[in-house]
Amino acid sequence: MFQLPHSPLTLIKDAVLASYNIKLYIKRDDLIHPTVTGNKWRKLKFNLIEAKEKGFDQLLTFGGAYSNHIYATAAAGKEFGFKTVGIIRGDELTPDSNDTLRYAHDCGMELIFVTRLDYNFRNRLTRQYGEKFYVLPEGGTNDLAIKGVNEMVDEIYEVIDPDFICSAVGTGGTLAGIVSGVRGTTKAIGFASLKGKGLLKGQIEKLLPFEKEFELNEQYHFDGYAKTTPELIEFIKGFEERNNGIQLEQVYTGKMMFGIYDLIKQGYFPENSNIVAVHTGGLQGRSEELK
Ligand SMILES: Cc1ncc(COP(=O)(O)O)c(C=O)c1O
Repeated sequence: MFQLPHSPLTLIKDAVLASYNIKLYIKRDDLIHPTVTGNKWRKLKFNLIEAKEKGFDQLLTFGGAYSNHIYATAAAGKEFGFKTVGIIRGDELTPDSNDTLRYAHDCGMELIFVTRLDYNFRNRLTRQYGEKFYVLPEGGTNDLAIKGVNEMVDEIYEVIDPDFICSAVGTGGTLAGIVSGVRGTTKAIGFASLKGKGLLKGQIEKLLPFEKEFELNEQYHFDGYAKTTPELIEFIKGFEERNNGIQLEQVYTGKMMFGIYDLIKQGYFPENSNIVAVHTGGLQGRSEELK
């Protein structure tokens, strides 16, 4: 029930890259499941198995108004037979406030809207609501999420031995899974989607089961979470047109891909490098400008 076919690893044959002697692949985790896509599937998989094994039939989790994690947890609950509860940051919101919340609600998720202040006390909220629920943290990052991402990395090695594996970074759980999963000389690079305060790298280090080097690039956040520029939108449109409609979105994967292309052009990657960019999904959040 929880074992899905491997997602494809596709070579990007982009004329823009042809002169750089680099092979860029994309791990199409956006295709792994129709509704629980990308890193969300990887992060949820072993949690869903654990919840079933421990006899839970309800999941409880947390998120903001546009959270892909809320969206995916609601979808997973519907598909795999769990009741779901989402505690949402912002007591001014309703299930009709946006497409993410509407979708979660339509999947049967009970949405509980709390003030931003209360949301900061998630441990207390967990105790208040959580006893008979299997609790997933905000963003879905925990040890079992990291194990799920490790599995995605293993799938890559079944096809090639890459020099670099790149991922977009929010909480850093996905990157931690990649860092702990890479072998040999493969280097993991994360592209932050948020404008950090210099703390993100340390937070990711704490998520790692053991010490390991990795790179966190914080140059391509485009002024912060969910912020965009015309340049970013034009880049995504151009990428999609040149690459047979492989879609990206503007919050995570578009920024990562922009960063990878920019670094390729700057000569950051040695000639003949094999780079894998992980498509972490989230396409339901594509902005109107991309449609
Ligand atoms: C589409 C997408 N890509 C990447 C990320 C970043 O994942 P993480 O929070 O594990 O860093 C997220 C997080 O929500 C996401 O929704």
